[in-house]
Amino acid sequence: MPPPLPPKPLQPNRASLSFLFLFLLSLVLYVSLSPSRNTPSPSSSSSSSSRNAPADSLSAPHRLFLSLHPGANATIAAHLRALTLRPHLAGTPAAARTASYVISHLRAAGLRVASADYYPLLSYPASASLALLRPDGTLVKPLPLAEPADLEAAAVPPYHAYSPSGSAVAAPVYVNYGREDDYSALHRLGVDVRGCVAVVRRGGGYRGAVVARAAARGVAAVLMFKAADHGGVERGTVLLGGVGDPLTPGWAAPNTAAADGGGERLAADDREVRRRFPKIPSMPVAEVVAMEILRTLGGPPMPRGWGEGLPSAAKSGVGPGPTLVNFTYQEDRKLAKIQNVFGIIRGSEEPDRYIILGNHRDAWTFGAVDPNSGTAALLDVARRYGSLLRSGWRPRRTIILCSWDAEEFGMIGSTEWVEQNLGRLSSKAVVYLNVDCAVQGDGFFASATPQLDKLIVEVTKQIQDPDFEAMTVYESWIVNNGGISKIERLSRADSDFSAFLHLAGVPSVDFYYGDVFPGYHTVFDSYKWMVEHGDPSFHRHVAIAEIWGLLGLRLADDLVLPFDYPSYSARLHEHATALSALLDGGGSVQIQPINSSIDELTVAIGEAVEESKKLQEVDTTEDFAALRRRAFNDRLILAERGFLETEGLKGRPCFRHLLYSPPEDSESKLSFFPGIADAISQARKHAGEEEQLRIQHEIWRVARAIQRAAAALRGELI
Ligand SMILES: *[C@@H]1O[C@H](CO)[C@@H](O)[C@H](O)[C@H]1NC(C)=O
Ligand SMILES: *[C@@H]1O[C@H](CO)[C@@H](O)[C@H](O)[C@H]1NC(C)=O
Ligand SMILES: *[C@@H]1O[C@H](CO)[C@@H](O)[C@H](O)[C@H]1NC(C)=O
Repeated sequence: MPPPLPPKPLQPNRASLSFLFLFLLSLVLYVSLSPSRNTPSPSSSSSSSSRNAPADSLSAPHRLFLSLHPGANATIAAHLRALTLRPHLAGTPAAARTASYVISHLRAAGLRVASADYYPLLSYPASASLALLRPDGTLVKPLPLAEPADLEAAAVPPYHAYSPSGSAVAAPVYVNYGREDDYSALHRLGVDVRGCVAVVRRGGGYRGAVVARAAARGVAAVLMFKAADHGGVERGTVLLGGVGDPLTPGWAAPNTAAADGGGERLAADDREVRRRFPKIPSMPVAEVVAMEILRTLGGPPMPRGWGEGLPSAAKSGVGPGPTLVNFTYQEDRKLAKIQNVFGIIRGSEEPDRYIILGNHRDAWTFGAVDPNSGTAALLDVARRYGSLLRSGWRPRRTIILCSWDAEEFGMIGSTEWVEQNLGRLSSKAVVYLNVDCAVQGDGFFASATPQLDKLIVEVTKQIQDPDFEAMTVYESWIVNNGGISKIERLSRADSDFSAFLHLAGVPSVDFYYGDVFPGYHTVFDSYKWMVEHGDPSFHRHVAIAEIWGLLGLRLADDLVLPFDYPSYSARLHEHATALSALLDGGGSVQIQPINSSIDELTVAIGEAVEESKKLQEVDTTEDFAALRRRAFNDRLILAERGFLETEGLKGRPCFRHLLYSPPEDSESKLSFFPGIADAISQARKHAGEEEQLRIQHEIWRVARAIQRAAAALRGELI
């Protein structure tokens, strides 16, 4: 059964208000709409005025965008229904049908449509089996690997993409979350996990990293379950070492499966390629299946906390054995066609500057939450942009709506596209705005590179909260967070912003409603769940579409880009403080280079703020005013690229952002400065002179990156 997650019942009655808006706005627009006007700074809007008149500080086209609200929830619901009729795993015919659906609706909205196809290496299950055996190897019973079959699911059975084929007849051992500490605890208990089948519960970080940690300890195979899973089993990828097609690291996968045409692919047994796959097979299993195994275990009793949240019957020993399990898995690895789809609105004045909005379309199962709540919202953004186009508006800069494929396998569609266009994106992309699961519950959540924090706040102040009539999204967001607009950073590579930010250094945002979704990657991720629990009246979807679309409009139309670098400086100070606390008593390591570079960046930011004020005041008709603004905007864009280092993080060239990329050690205490984080993790394992030097080296690399950002912002060579 889907878990009971009662949604908030309150729905603002804003249809009538919006009709009034629409009517008045149409009048105003009819006489005064002119493209490419500047957007007045919204900073003057107080919270009370934003509540009563959410759109009053916006330009006419932007107000028109928000006014296209009535009925949007029904349109979005219809899109979601259509997109989620069948499971549509990447590389299957059902996935191709969703591409056609998105193409036809982008076209109907009046956008120019393009697509980019690739043939990366995808991974599907061919067969699998699991059985519980007595210590003498005779069968106790077979254990099911499928989810409950009551949903007429043509869904792929639960599996881990890129798990190698393999089999094991071995003693099971319970390793809790499979973290370093858990293995240390087992070691202290005298438990030898070598050659065993590890039963691990989700919660120890990225599932690929959990499998890799088990493999490093000589475990033969991994069975992974989620506590309190309500019968669903979580599919997912276990690809390691970065994002994108494993056969084409750093370049785009060819757009044909032909072995001799279209482009280069590495061989499957290439060292580079093998590095991306775990060494041992793994499989997700239902909690009840894991419990069937755990309750047969002897050995030392579970350490404190290891049974927490598990059914009490399972609280036995950690094993290994005395029972055995017989696990087999056969993978079907093949090149398959994936389709990225684009809707494009060419900019009127700066067509070569790109505002990129993206969401993936492929799903493990029906994908009502992940990702098609976002796809349905994207199509609503397209519909509204289409109306603006028909009213005569043209964005100043080019807007591209992207519908990515094969995200679930490792951000493959977006990464291949970024790799193919890396040079052009590096010089011309302004921003990447990602929405993956638009709605997975209640409460607004956002992550961003810090220069976008202020814009997110401004935009959420313009949007009616979907659950509380008297509030804006901003107001209910800060109420939920003890009075602050809490924005996370984008250090994880868990959605399509990864290649944009971590590889190309494009300022990025990711946002959604709801933080935990119990049906994640299971067959319960269905339209039915969305209607019954996630967003019964689809107003949260509407709020996401409005935030997304308005962010896009501000970034496309504002004369001076709404990037706020003082926020970057403040975050860097916080990061330096956290690092300094972590390194306290950390031997000979000096953090000072980072502090000096932050000071240098802060000075450059102060100058940029002054310059920005002057540019805001410049008379648009003045000679070269447009050129001066464009040069200044370019410096705002390129500052983020400064944080990139060409060769990337050690052994992981697709992660080049030295402030926000995923640390290799998924248990790292730092969620920023990934190179330093990994050097510290290394030093914890072997404390030596060499490890201290590596930390210091990584500190210098970050300091130089921050200096490059400062230089880019100043726009000077020296
Ligand atoms: C393990 O399972 C496989 C597949 O069902 C079967 O072929 C094999 O004989 C089993 N091995 C044992 C020892 O039960
Ligand atoms: C859209 O919102 C209205 C007003 O809240 C509601 O009555 C209607 O049922 C919603 N439509 C859908 C499809 O949820
Ligand atoms: C570096 O800056 C951080 C934050 O501003 C501060 O906590 C730390 O003490 C500084 N360290 C040095 C060596 O200046």
